[in-house]
Amino acid sequence: MKSYLGNFSHREIRNILQKNQIKNVFLVTNRNSFTAGGVSHYIFQVLNGCDYVRFSDFSTNPKLEDVKKGIESVLECKPDLIIGVGGGSAMDMSKLIHHLAGYESIDQETIISGIKDHKINNQLMLIPTTSGSGSEATRFAVVYIDGKKYSLHHDTILPDYSIVDGLLTEKLPGDVTAYTGIDAISQAIESYWANGADKESKSYALKALEYLVPSICDVVAAPTPELREKMALGSFYAGKAIDISKTTLPHAFSYYLTTQYSFPHGHAVGIVLPYFLVANTGEMDITPILRIFNVQSPPELKTRFIAIMKKIGLYRSLEDILQDDMEDFINAVNLERLRNNPVTFTKDQFISLFAHE
Ligand SMILES: [Fe+2]
Repeated sequence: MKSYLGNFSHREIRNILQKNQIKNVFLVTNRNSFTAGGVSHYIFQVLNGCDYVRFSDFSTNPKLEDVKKGIESVLECKPDLIIGVGGGSAMDMSKLIHHLAGYESIDQETIISGIKDHKINNQLMLIPTTSGSGSEATRFAVVYIDGKKYSLHHDTILPDYSIVDGLLTEKLPGDVTAYTGIDAISQAIESYWANGADKESKSYALKALEYLVPSICDVVAAPTPELREKMALGSFYAGKAIDISKTTLPHAFSYYLTTQYSFPHGHAVGIVLPYFLVANTGEMDITPILRIFNVQSPPELKTRFIAIMKKIGLYRSLEDILQDDMEDFINAVNLERLRNNPVTFTKDQFISLFAHE
């Protein structure tokens, strides 16, 4: 993967297209935010001379049927390059189209049994327009079948090019900036304490937090190009970190709040994370994280994180959200992420953990 990082890096796209003699582009974008958010202006500027087909026929959490529609369209277009421009959903969608287009047929079984090695005839470029998911730096993609979330993982899902340009996030509304930023911070923290973490992923996680933590409150209150750039870079490094380590229990629990209570992904994760900031770190040295948050201990880190959530308008407690469905909330958790969490919990321990802030 070649990464182009920093404000104005979108200008590199033109060189990449020329160098690789790209003539035909398949553009996967969100339906509205691509034009309303001003992103189309930047992209069309650098696409001149290329034929392109634009595909936007998919929902926020892409379903397998959406992927099939995309594949039909890409087989017709036969592009040299697929470009995914947007938030996590648009980038995941383009990853799925890129990698599944070579399959003879795709159904639930194909997804469950995982991606196999196969020849791919075109390249993939990802251009995030939110600073949160880090999908531009990971080798996994999420797809929903009958409301259930599946995550595909394969080395060839990693894009050939990532363009991480804060200017493309400049029109993001404050609430989206807040919850996508909290997703990136949570991904970096979860990555740091994950059982799957190694030296490299931990250094990416800390680098991410160094960009994100001092910037998040300011970028929500009064965004500047410099702050947007820091959030974009932080989100990219958090993506690099979870690409190695994967995420842990706060992410696993968050999906219930998204599917049952419609919280955007990052918001849901930010609601769950504080419950684990002390419970997950008892045995672990998290001094570098404490230093970045400018606190002395895990309980202080929890207080500080909650203060940030309040300041950017996202704070909610589980007590206040859940309505007699604590059991369902706990039972919905993905077992794979349980294994990646540094601490194991029994069901009763979860119940008491979630009972109070
Ligand atoms: Fe996330």
